[in-house]
Amino acid sequence: MIKPIKVTITGAAGHIGYALAFRVASGEMFGPDQPVILRLLEIPQALSSLNGVGMELEDCALPLLHDIVLTDDPGIGFRETDYAILIGAKARGKGMERKDLISDNAKIFSAQGKAINDHASGDVRVLVVGNPANTNALIAAANAPDLENKQFTAMTRLDHNRALGQLANKTNKLVADITRMTIWGNHSMTQYPDISNCRIGGASALELVTRDWAIDHFIPRIQRRGGEIIEARGLSSAASAADAVVDHVRDWALGTPDGDWVSMSVRSDGSYGVSEDVVFSFPVTCKAGEYEIVQGLELDDLSQARLKASEKELLEERAIIQELL
Ligand code: NAD
Ligand code: LMR
Repeated sequence: MIKPIKVTITGAAGHIGYALAFRVASGEMFGPDQPVILRLLEIPQALSSLNGVGMELEDCALPLLHDIVLTDDPGIGFRETDYAILIGAKARGKGMERKDLISDNAKIFSAQGKAINDHASGDVRVLVVGNPANTNALIAAANAPDLENKQFTAMTRLDHNRALGQLANKTNKLVADITRMTIWGNHSMTQYPDISNCRIGGASALELVTRDWAIDHFIPRIQRRGGEIIEARGLSSAASAADAVVDHVRDWALGTPDGDWVSMSVRSDGSYGVSEDVVFSFPVTCKAGEYEIVQGLELDDLSQARLKASEKELLEERAIIQELL
């Protein structure tokens, strides 16, 4: 029998967690033959709701779901886990920026970094979703001294997918025809969605759209999309966020397609001149649980200025939570 993969989801009774747990348990993350054990971690006040999620998972009779653990104890939630998906945190409301959440959320990630260090598998892979995701990933990694920075990532896959969707709409092509999209920087208004390397069915994206459309419409639309969803729903994105979690972890674990890459926020190694002190979104290729930053892409002056602006914002966020590192 194939050994089950243990997956911890924090905030599993919340909007994203509820949309995610069933997809992981049905095999969308690790494939149709790979059993999973779900460890769902919540705060004590949400345990009743979490029990309901557990009952619904049982009622699906999913053949790949070998066990479900429901807990408010991080020591149990992260025990020997292979993948830790850190969603549990406050979400922003209308009129807020994601960095306004730092004071409420940062401490969650120092505590969970320690718990992952002490209880998870030594080979654990961590994805931080709770905002501000990049800085929270920095905090979690810093509090897990026995683990390597490369085991901690933050999610910019939702921005990447949003960018694919908008570009497909504009060019009247299929998302599946587009490769080499890149989101650079922070999961925030300073992110840089970059189509300059995109290929669409054999052509360069820049042959199919104008530079003015990219600068005046596409980039700000992706930067503001989270806020646009909050305006419309009164709540932040949930199903699309869960979908991006599935994509991020699946590609990290199983690999990216040949000739393409994805966007992941990872600890900078100095590539493209980005400070090594931040978790920054880069184009990456993945294979068997390891990622590599794509090297050698050309960045014009405007692009470099955009990367610098996002780096500056991340360094400012870092200064605010310095005592947690
Ligand atoms: P939600 O309020 O619906 O759910 C959050 C859940 O987390 C709640 O059930 C809460 O009880 C739980 N929680 C809080 N503190 C916890 C802790 N210490 N341990 C375990 N669980 C805890 O929120 P949501 O819509 O699911 O969003 C969750 C987070 O994800 C927010 O910070 C949101 O901004 C962020 N988010 C990020 C992205 C991204 O692309 N990176 C996308 C969407 C949302
Ligand atoms: C998103 O991009 O949808 C999330 O980060 C939620 C938010 O606050 O915008």
